[in-house]
Amino acid sequence: MTARYTIGIDLGGTNIKGGVCDRRQTLLTRHAIETQAELGCEHVLERMARLVDDLLQQTNLSKAQIAGIGVGAPGPLSHAQGMIYHAPNLPGFVAVPLRDRFAKATGLPVVLENDANAAAYGEFTAGAGKDVRNMVMLTLGTGIGGGIVLDGKLWRGRYDNAGEIGHTVIVPDGRACPCGQRGCLERYASANAIAERLREAVAAGENSVLKPKITANEPFDARDVLQAAEQGDALAARIWDETCYYLALSVVNVRHLLNPELVVFAGGLINAGPRLLDPVKEHLERLSWKIAPDAPRIALATLGTDAGTIGAAALAMS
Ligand code: BGC
Repeated sequence: MTARYTIGIDLGGTNIKGGVCDRRQTLLTRHAIETQAELGCEHVLERMARLVDDLLQQTNLSKAQIAGIGVGAPGPLSHAQGMIYHAPNLPGFVAVPLRDRFAKATGLPVVLENDANAAAYGEFTAGAGKDVRNMVMLTLGTGIGGGIVLDGKLWRGRYDNAGEIGHTVIVPDGRACPCGQRGCLERYASANAIAERLREAVAAGENSVLKPKITANEPFDARDVLQAAEQGDALAARIWDETCYYLALSVVNVRHLLNPELVVFAGGLINAGPRLLDPVKEHLERLSWKIAPDAPRIALATLGTDAGTIGAAALAMS
């Protein structure tokens, strides 16, 4: 039987998304489960294997019809060695030989790729980047990832960690990051950081409609912050606007470093649509130089939150 399909898995800090794709990168089916990252590496690996079984069941495919599995995972990691070094947003994922362990668990060949690289590859081959040769992707979720396509090729760098944009330093000596640095973009503009910054401001005495939730220790996330901002909450509005400002600063730096035609935003935060894109563009207009006509186009991932799954499946095929 010919193996005509691949499975893409997007391992995130909050959810594990999976999908089955054919050779044309058409997503035949998708399924997502919670990562339950707090329960540790072994548990997450078991959940990933269960997700593969669920996907096979949903499509009625057998393992013999699957050419391989692409796993997009948070790094830093080594694509060549199939090893996650230390993922800041996945507790216990330190020196995990994920490629080999998952291949053993599923009985299928596995390719390990940085999650944002996988998403960038997905958008480049089948989404917003289809018609460009140079693009940079920023994935805005639990963490912030980056993927770089230069001259039509995914750019991994010497140690496979090119594009770790979430850990570029945006505020000198700023907020502490679990990666060990201070002031990383991820500590200001990820979905987690947005909620955390609001919580800290309230703890420091500022007022917000979200204060009762915070006092009652109830969970809330970036969506609540955006909603509060739209209802006129001054603190939430400030935090959302600062987030867009930090993202715009990053785009300015990316523009001058790599000069891409296109910068694509992906990840859960893009569900905000124009409420994210418009203020980022406004900040960019103010912050960017005007002395050369080399501004990248800014777009949202057209594959939406499927970009990582489709990209990982495509990488498994290639
Ligand atoms: C990791 C990146 C990853 C991003 C999104 C960051 O903390 O360092 O490798 O792409 O989170 O998951």
